[in-house]
Amino acid sequence: MSANPFLDRTLVHGDLYQGDGRLADRTHALHRAKISGSDAADTIADLLAARVPAGAAVLDIGCGRGTTTVRLADRLRPRRLIAVDASTALLRTTRDRLGNAGLLGSVVCADFHHLPLPDSVADATVAAFCLYHSPTPAMAIAEITRCLRPGGIAVLVTKSLDSYAELDHLVNAAGLDPHAISRPSLYESFHSGNLHTIAATNLTVLDVQHEEHVFHFADAMHLASYLTTTPKYRINLTGGISALAAALRQRLPAPPYATRSTVSCAVAVRP
Ligand SMILES: C[S@@+](CC[C@H](N)C(=O)[O-])C[C@H]1O[C@@H](n2cnc3c(N)ncnc32)[C@H](O)[C@@H]1O
Repeated sequence: MSANPFLDRTLVHGDLYQGDGRLADRTHALHRAKISGSDAADTIADLLAARVPAGAAVLDIGCGRGTTTVRLADRLRPRRLIAVDASTALLRTTRDRLGNAGLLGSVVCADFHHLPLPDSVADATVAAFCLYHSPTPAMAIAEITRCLRPGGIAVLVTKSLDSYAELDHLVNAAGLDPHAISRPSLYESFHSGNLHTIAATNLTVLDVQHEEHVFHFADAMHLASYLTTTPKYRINLTGGISALAAALRQRLPAPPYATRSTVSCAVAVRP
């Protein structure tokens, strides 16, 4: 097993994303906690709407549950929209969400290092919050570039290395995981600090925007519901979320529990 769970293929293609539930729970816990920071799907749609004409062909790589896909379909009204992911369960969710919203789009199950798509097929491509699952993100970006037409736009989105570091300290202070602080960042392979350099290996980077997002977990139960969905921690406690919440309540100062993450978006063009 890799020291970084986000780079552990067995975990990424198994427990983390094999089903829809864990990602949905992690995302909902974070969204409930967010007190500042833009909606990432809106930001991505805004960046593309300003640069891509209506009726474009768009790819959403590593689409997950389709949150960004649905926003792109709604805002850009593309001629063709293809959502790609390695998880069939998440692709099902994406397809259902598009269908329920009456939006057009198709899904393809594939590894983003080997896209089963022709050269130059897309006018625009998004890869949001997924390339940190690659030990070689430049290889995935080379594939994304191959699928873009010359002059096509890529929006690549990731988080800072120090995202949610305050939670490492809380978990450590509660005596639940003594190695929480020393473990590598989940985002170590592709993060706000190396986004520009890695994107520039294949693309011409036009702009990189960084925005700090702040989160307040309202109580111990809310914090526990997030901690149990992130693979970073190794907490040996039986009794599930309620037992974890009880331990946090007993061992930590009063809530809210604050943390932050920088979300970074690169806009790049295929030369
Ligand atoms: C956090 S989710 C992405 C969220 C989504 N892009 C959004 O904006 O809501 C990360 C996704 O990356 C996918 N993924 C991880 N490694 C992959 C790979 N090698 N090829 C394709 N998809 C991969 C996972 O299956 C998961 O759906």
